[in-house]
Amino acid sequence: MASSNAFQLIEGTGGKEFIQTLLGKMTLAEKIGQLCQVNAGDNHIPDNLHNDLKEGLIGSVLNQVDVKLVNELQRIAVEESRLGIPLLIGRDVIHGFKTVLPIPVGQAATWNPDLVRKGAEIAAKEAASTGVNWTFAPMLDISRDPRWGRVAESLGEDPYLASELGEAMVNGFQGENLSDIGSIASCAKHFAGYGAAESGRDYATTNIPENELRNVYLKPFHSAVNAGVTAVMTSFSDVNGIPATANEFLLRQVLRDEWLFDGFVVSDWDSVKQLSTHGLTENDKESAFEALSAGVDMEMASYTFRHHLSSLVAEGRISEELIDQSVLNILGVKYALGLFESPYTDPDSLSSIANPYALGIARQSARESIVMLKNDNKALPLIESKLNSLAVIGPLADSAYEQLGTWIFDGDPDLSITALEAIKNRAGDEIQVNFHSGLETTRSRDTNSFDEVSRIAKDSDAVLLFLGEESILSGEAHCRADINLPGVQAQLVENVRKCGKPVIAVIMAGRPITLTNIIDQVDALLFAWHPGTMGGAAIAELLFGDESPSGKLPISFPRHVGQIPIYYNQKNTGKPPSDKAIVHIDDIDPLAPQTSLGMTAFHLDEGFKPLFPFGFGLSYTVFKYENIQCDRYEMKIGESITVSADLMNTGEFEAEEIAQLYVRDLVGNVTRPVRELKGFRRVHLTPGQKKTVSFEIHSDDLAFYDRNQKLIVEPGEFRVWIGGSSYAELETGFRVIN
Ligand code: BGC
Repeated sequence: MASSNAFQLIEGTGGKEFIQTLLGKMTLAEKIGQLCQVNAGDNHIPDNLHNDLKEGLIGSVLNQVDVKLVNELQRIAVEESRLGIPLLIGRDVIHGFKTVLPIPVGQAATWNPDLVRKGAEIAAKEAASTGVNWTFAPMLDISRDPRWGRVAESLGEDPYLASELGEAMVNGFQGENLSDIGSIASCAKHFAGYGAAESGRDYATTNIPENELRNVYLKPFHSAVNAGVTAVMTSFSDVNGIPATANEFLLRQVLRDEWLFDGFVVSDWDSVKQLSTHGLTENDKESAFEALSAGVDMEMASYTFRHHLSSLVAEGRISEELIDQSVLNILGVKYALGLFESPYTDPDSLSSIANPYALGIARQSARESIVMLKNDNKALPLIESKLNSLAVIGPLADSAYEQLGTWIFDGDPDLSITALEAIKNRAGDEIQVNFHSGLETTRSRDTNSFDEVSRIAKDSDAVLLFLGEESILSGEAHCRADINLPGVQAQLVENVRKCGKPVIAVIMAGRPITLTNIIDQVDALLFAWHPGTMGGAAIAELLFGDESPSGKLPISFPRHVGQIPIYYNQKNTGKPPSDKAIVHIDDIDPLAPQTSLGMTAFHLDEGFKPLFPFGFGLSYTVFKYENIQCDRYEMKIGESITVSADLMNTGEFEAEEIAQLYVRDLVGNVTRPVRELKGFRRVHLTPGQKKTVSFEIHSDDLAFYDRNQKLIVEPGEFRVWIGGSSYAELETGFRVIN
């Protein structure tokens, strides 16, 4: 159901001729106006904004969601300006609008493209009912650094998973047809490499060799372009010495010339102006020159285009044709959205916001996003008949707001179902629920209530601990150098542990947390990300075993922050570590300190493995994989091969498993990762049921950029695994031949 790019969309509709004719009537000032996006902000339309719209000096407004004001903005643009060009109304609709879905990294843990698509579709419909016609999503930055706050907004560490889910989001937002009511334009961001910010500090410099850029960071963007994303937003960062907003290689060579993108490119907030702060340009005029020349079509928030493009044209430094091209890129999207025909939004459509269907999808999405990381002695699911009382403890047990996550401009905490609410509801009169928040916030260091918490824990049959991070601790500019549970939460766990009751932790957070210091203190652990509006309901369903946890990690969980970056698809190195050859710092042989070390790529204090690998997640049942096979050993370039394995539910619980397929290209023109995800599928199995899962691999799926940055498929030997995580052991191989 992939749509196509803006220009392809208007092909044959008369759209191209329409916008070309319109362009012919525009003055230079009106053309530049289309390239300017301004913040609407307040709950009224200020005179200067009104005047600018009337003069045709603005092409897009962001951050207005009052449908009456949005309609009024459109009315001024359409009825009071000379040419009546409607506006793009932009908004960060990132993980839901009023109905809040799990944060994107949580949605990625569902490994469910169809569900992710439905979530985006709901978000688009809700946003569109206020007049918003363009979202700044999906964020497709490959994120291998959980210190980076924006990991919350990402689809994780893997290019394939991020590509599949990013494409699903684009399709969800844009629908079958951009001009349909409820479809909105989407925007792949932040182009490109933003996730590689040094030391996980937001906005920091990125240095990514071109080969790595192409094989890893650009991949999800390319998929989004192929899926018909209508806009691309530049990253704030410096990429290999040239900030992304002035990076001609990225914006023209890759995006336009190689990928044939024909939507438009928007800068990030003020990022054109910031070119001077980076030290790339001397002043705003040069920033406007660099950004437009490099391929930015629309400037967000700052005013360098508005103030300087006309003199740059007058001086002959920027050609009017270049401006015309940017204007056409933007008008093409406006036309594809159907804005010229129907610029207004029916305020009555607001009534369908947060409807039962939307809440149902939010609940399913939360449920499928939750990853069970530990479950010793069948601590979960809770068996109601064996419980008289439950302690519910922790700062996030009853926090309608915090469970929503980072991008919730429009999210409504009043709609939230918290875990405490859902557990109480579920427990009814049969089970006594004893609640204490324990700590005021996840960051607080006040241990005053710990005695009271212990008393409650002792008086209860089991303890549910709701810990993690408030939403403010992740997201843009909210980075952390230490990614342990903040404050004294680890002490709270220790304290509760001493009470001798089963301890079940539910962690809500915007990033992977280093859980090494608490994992042995708990019997079970559910990692719930920030699960959104229906988070509590979904958590209760899993705790009480209405359904089995089925989420899998879209990003590795380090043992220690010092291991970062740690991701499953690393290169092998010349001295790969192995379980057999690592020595712990405490075990170095004093008589042979050198030789005992093993001389491979590991840390003396933490080894080389994460605490939980990519793709990992437990279930209430037991899944067994066996009989892996390829339908043949050799495949020619241009052909496909089918790899299959039997998957059996050998436990007692009906559940879903996410079967994953990984390959390794043993020898390459450039070195290849030790494993690469190439397929995945959710499989539903009743106890005792067996299904064969098969994956088709086309030789194109094995393509990579070589040392000359050419996309190639090389003949050679491949290993392949099918299993339940990136540590899958069931293995076979095949050969690609010419
Ligand atoms: C963020 C973008 C966002 C934009 C508009 C920027 O600060 O980096 O992701 O879309 O603001 O709100």
